[in-house]
Amino acid sequence: MLGLMKLFNQNLFLLRKNFASSFLLMVANSRVRAFSAGSPTNAPIKRVGTHNGSFHCDEALGCFMIRLTDKFSVAEIVRTRDPQVLETLDAVLDVGGVYDPSRDRYDHHQKGFEEVFGHGFSTKLSSAGLVYKHFGMEIIAKELQVDEGHPDVFRLFTNIYRSFMEAIDAIDNGINQYDTEQPPRYVNNTHLSARVGRLNLDWMDADQSAEKENEAFQRAMNLAGSEFLDSVRFHAKSWLPARSIVMDCLSARKDVDPSGEIIVLTRFCPWKLHLYELEEEMKIDPPVKYILYQDDRSKHWRVQAVAISLDKFESRKPLPSPWRGLRDEGLSSETGIPGCIFVHMSGFIGGNQTYDGVLAMARQALKL
Ligand SMILES: *[C@@H]1O[C@H](CO)[C@@H](O)[C@H](O)[C@H]1NC(C)=O
Ligand SMILES: *[C@@H]1O[C@H](CO)[C@@H](O)[C@H](O)[C@H]1NC(C)=O
Ligand SMILES: *[C@@H]1O[C@H](CO)[C@@H](O)[C@H](O)[C@H]1NC(C)=O
Repeated sequence: MLGLMKLFNQNLFLLRKNFASSFLLMVANSRVRAFSAGSPTNAPIKRVGTHNGSFHCDEALGCFMIRLTDKFSVAEIVRTRDPQVLETLDAVLDVGGVYDPSRDRYDHHQKGFEEVFGHGFSTKLSSAGLVYKHFGMEIIAKELQVDEGHPDVFRLFTNIYRSFMEAIDAIDNGINQYDTEQPPRYVNNTHLSARVGRLNLDWMDADQSAEKENEAFQRAMNLAGSEFLDSVRFHAKSWLPARSIVMDCLSARKDVDPSGEIIVLTRFCPWKLHLYELEEEMKIDPPVKYILYQDDRSKHWRVQAVAISLDKFESRKPLPSPWRGLRDEGLSSETGIPGCIFVHMSGFIGGNQTYDGVLAMARQALKL
């Protein structure tokens, strides 16, 4: 990840040149050109176009992402609406009225445009979604330093779409988050698309020149791009390893208890996100009721009841009601299991000092 960000920053040398009444942003510096020694040394620098005037998150992010690909790695960004200029460019985003990946044309404003990401997602794409759809796997594979065909690449590709990209596509295309006529209860002005929007020149700014506007656009690219890279980094460094831990623990569940309804986390990690998805994928039936894990700080063990779904608090099988709200001796005498520490009032979590203790609690709870 650092690699991608560093490469990107190195390329962000702002040499502005006049080009057919447009501006060229960002020209590769000589150091970067020198180290792409694998490619033909005299290959002309690619030029990627997008519209001038006020900008949005989608093309700012699209321009950032496309420069992370091999094909457009040190591309200049040309901001114009002049069709004669756009015609000469190597890629065009968010303007031009054409979606044709074979010619790297990625506009989404034309009548009849209905492209979606696919893989179960049906939100109409913006220019960012289009770039992601066509280049996302390449960018992610680079970050993971694996082949594009590696299954982790596709896994991240769809999950980063879900957790980061889809909202940008939806907001750009004016698609509401909820199916409701109700007015929102409060204004939400802090999401990425809103923050990028605020980087546009203010009407009160005295200098409304194309140069100022291009500088602002570059800040927009950096803001949207760094958050995109943060999301890729989080998924690669944290989300994916947690997923494999949960998967391994699910596979080993029958060794813990023949019911298959109790799993032990061999290492504590954010497991909730993955559990529901993996249960479906691995066709786990009956579903898991309890997760056992060791609390990092106290070293005590916890037994946690799995909620009926990711966004619900209600448990599939809460710890037995007679146990709830009890502690220590009182709890141990109620459960008949020595060393019990607590069971939460709602029955979603309990503790014992040892692994054997929480396992005994989970086993007994299953039967009650
Ligand atoms: C876009 O740039 C052209 C020059 O290329 C200029 O004439 C036009 O006013 C600009 N449009 C906006 C909205 O700034
Ligand atoms: C604001 O909107 C963003 C993007 O739609 C969303 O991710 C975020 O959760 C919203 N914040 C609140 C407080 O609803
Ligand atoms: C619960 O923890 C205590 C303290 O470590 C231990 O003595 C007891 O055996 C545990 N319970 C069971 C059933 O193992």
